[in-house]
Amino acid sequence: MARQTLIAGNWKMNGTTDSIHELVMAINAQLESDWQSEVLVCAPAVYLPLVIDLTKDSAIEVGAQNLSEQAAGAFTGEISGSMLADIGSQYVLVGHSERRSLYGESSELVAKKFQAALDNGLIPVLCVGETLEEREADATMKVVRAQIDTVLDYGIDVLGQGVIAYEPVWAIGTGKTATPEQAQQVHAEIRAHLAQLDVDVAAKIRILYGGSMNPTNAEQLLAQDDIDGGLIGGASLKAEQFIAICKAAG
Ligand code: PGA
Repeated sequence: MARQTLIAGNWKMNGTTDSIHELVMAINAQLESDWQSEVLVCAPAVYLPLVIDLTKDSAIEVGAQNLSEQAAGAFTGEISGSMLADIGSQYVLVGHSERRSLYGESSELVAKKFQAALDNGLIPVLCVGETLEEREADATMKVVRAQIDTVLDYGIDVLGQGVIAYEPVWAIGTGKTATPEQAQQVHAEIRAHLAQLDVDVAAKIRILYGGSMNPTNAEQLLAQDDIDGGLIGGASLKAEQFIAICKAAG
């Protein structure tokens, strides 16, 4: 089954009004209308309205990097899914490893956020991945399955409405990329895990790779059968690198 490739930039906590303006205009200018892949940028929340405005006549889609699991109320500092939808976000990352490790987000909380995104018509991108210690202890699939299973507790149909991003923690921002074979193996195992519950969902769901993807390694990674796109941090902050990855995706 053909799955549309998704190239997603994760800008993390970077940028200013000026630098974001420049970055988006540079991507806009080079984005060719006949590209087959979907292109998404996940901006810091305060800049979402700016990015949404700058991309209103372009094919670039816009997402947030986090949302609250709560609908509304006394949750100081939080941003709800309905607010993100209200300003025109289409996607939202949930469970990025930095949220899990630096802000203590549990898989249970991440699953609630995944559901909150869907409740508001946003497409959640569920980030999963193992640490180096876990990989060395041969626990990669155990960890990744457990992270996915908390969302599966809400139902395979719930998970099927989102996107999965496999991001080995040891590859994020380190310049160390999983080899295409290492990544493909995990992606295939994730798909096989889902196929035990629903063959159609397993065939349709997009599984992105993230972790030091760059213009040099993108083509080989994206050529793997079960790699349906990329979640790109560092290289998404430079227009020419991000565009080169989009071009590698076709
Ligand atoms: P990186 O980040 O491309 O800088 O490794 C990826 C991510 O954290 O999503």
